[in-house]
Amino acid sequence: EASKPLAGKKLLITAGPTVEPIDPVRYMSNHSSGKMGYAIAEQAKKAGAEVVLVSGPVTIPPPKGVKVIEVKQATEMMDAVMNELATSDIIIKSAAVADYRSKVVFDEKIKKNSEELILELKKNPDIAAEVGRVKRPDQMLIGFAAETEQVEQYAKGKLERKNMDLIIANDVTKPGAGFGTDTNIVTIYDRDGDKIELPQLSKQEVARHIVQVIGERLHART
Ligand code: C5P
Repeated sequence: EASKPLAGKKLLITAGPTVEPIDPVRYMSNHSSGKMGYAIAEQAKKAGAEVVLVSGPVTIPPPKGVKVIEVKQATEMMDAVMNELATSDIIIKSAAVADYRSKVVFDEKIKKNSEELILELKKNPDIAAEVGRVKRPDQMLIGFAAETEQVEQYAKGKLERKNMDLIIANDVTKPGAGFGTDTNIVTIYDRDGDKIELPQLSKQEVARHIVQVIGERLHART
C-alpha cells in the first residue's frame, strides 16, 4: 500500500541525549532535544511500522502508539537496543550518545576541597558501530552525523566505518539546523555514493522524507 510503505516492518530508533552520572547529584550530557528522532518515530508509525523508541531524558511527549523504552546512560541504551535488535527490520540511531562517561561514579557528592579536580573518563560503547557489526543483510541501519565542519567527508567516513546503509548529515552550526531547533537541513548519503540534499524543512518534514527514502529502499531490495 502506497500510504503505508513500512507496513509489517519493525523500526527501532534511539533519540535524545544520554546522561552520564558523576556522583549522586551531577552528570554529563549534551543539548540533544530528541525532536528529530521523535519526529521520525511519529512518521514511521504513520507509515505503518511497529515503532520502538529508545530514548534518553527529553522534555517532549512521545508519539502515540509507539513503544518507549526510557534510558539514561549509553550503556543502558546499548542494552535496550541489543534486546530489540533481532526482531527489528530498520534501526535508526538518532541519539546523541555521550562519547565518554566518568570512569568512577562516586557514591558521595564530590566536595570542593581542591583548586583543581581531575575527572577520569572512559569511552562509551559505540552502539551504531556494534549494530553495524552484527546486523543481518536484511536489516537496514541508518545513522546521523552532526558535524561542525567537513560534513560530507566525516559523514561518509562514519557510514563506512559503522557499516551503515544510510547516513543523515547536518551541519549543526548552520542556523535552522541541528540541536533544539524545530527545523533541520540535512543531506542523506548512501553506500553507492548517491546523495539526497533536502532544503531547510521542519523536523516533521525531514522525518517524512527519511521514512519515504527508507520505504523505497526496502522495496527495491525485495
Ligand atoms: O558520535 P558520532 O558522530 O560518531 O555518531 C554518529 C552516529 O553514531 C549517530 O547515528 C549516533 O547516534 C551513533 N552513535 C552511537 N553510539 C555512540 C556514538 C554514536 O550509536 N556511542
